[in-house]
Amino acid sequence: MNMAVNIAGVEWKNPVTTASGTFGSGEEFSEFVDLNRLGAVTTKGVANVPWPGNPTPRVAEVYGGMMNAIGLQNPGIDLFCKRDIPFLRKYDTKIIVNVCGKSEQDYCEVVERLGDEDVDMLEINISCPNVKEGGIAFGQNPKAAESITKAVKKYAKQPVIMKLSPNVTDITEMARAVEAGGADVVSLINTLTGMKIDINRKTFAIANKTGGMSGPAVHPIAVRMVYQVAQAVKLPIIGMGGIASAEDAIEMILAGASAVSVGTANFHNPAVTMEIVDGIEKYMQAQGFDSVADMVGIVK
Ligand SMILES: Cc1cc2nc3c(=O)[nH]c(=O)nc-3n(C[C@H](O)[C@H](O)[C@H](O)COP(=O)(O)O)c2cc1C
Repeated sequence: MNMAVNIAGVEWKNPVTTASGTFGSGEEFSEFVDLNRLGAVTTKGVANVPWPGNPTPRVAEVYGGMMNAIGLQNPGIDLFCKRDIPFLRKYDTKIIVNVCGKSEQDYCEVVERLGDEDVDMLEINISCPNVKEGGIAFGQNPKAAESITKAVKKYAKQPVIMKLSPNVTDITEMARAVEAGGADVVSLINTLTGMKIDINRKTFAIANKTGGMSGPAVHPIAVRMVYQVAQAVKLPIIGMGGIASAEDAIEMILAGASAVSVGTANFHNPAVTMEIVDGIEKYMQAQGFDSVADMVGIVK
């Protein structure tokens, strides 16, 4: 039995990675998780220059998950390359760098710069609901999504994963647009826009007013979207949204994901990624699957 998966030519030892923004660049979690056991680590989003993020409060707990409006606070590509990439390179895992920007040029600058770095894949976040410019603006318009995919692909030396937003009427239209633009992989879902009101303070729980909802409550929506995208495009899919157990991850794979990302669940169980790797292995043994690829999208 083999847990390895091949995602756009990059061989991961198993199909489990971390969802961007929920695992830092691995350093905070390396006390709880043997990073060598992950298929890949996906880093928090990085831009061409440092971003301060949004005013606080920026997170709130809600039924079945959480909301955040961090606003992609990040140290900028220079510090990231100096500090985070060498840290991750000490481990035997693939490195996926999540890239954010406010304009096409911002994204391309970061992607070009990463061409000289020892990283394995790039994940382009065109789906963050918490920044006013860029981000979601590209992720809600198929023409803009296709155009930014094309632009990024011109500069990219590593395979490009386009990360889709669930805040659209038809997710398949967005998946087809990035496929037409030359994406190598799609990942989904990013967070769903929500709102929480603090009735005692009589104001929004999050200073940004709205925030991105994640966690177990969004899982069925994510499974539905992964399934729809799997029927619509030929690209490999990295599925995420509310995965908190091996069962959730397996569901996503059977719906059509070639690999899975684990996000919010890391906050209440920092060792959850290891449990998911072990649980997928046990399921494969029990069900007689020889490879993860044999499980992908078998539920039609
Ligand atoms: C606190 C927080 C920060 C996040 N930051 C990013 C980010 O920088 N880039 C990105 O593409 N997605 C970001 N996301 C979205 C997650 O990567 C993921 O798509 C989403 O949370 C759904 O998965 P989950 O329910 O397992 O958390 C963030 C999510 C959370 C909760």
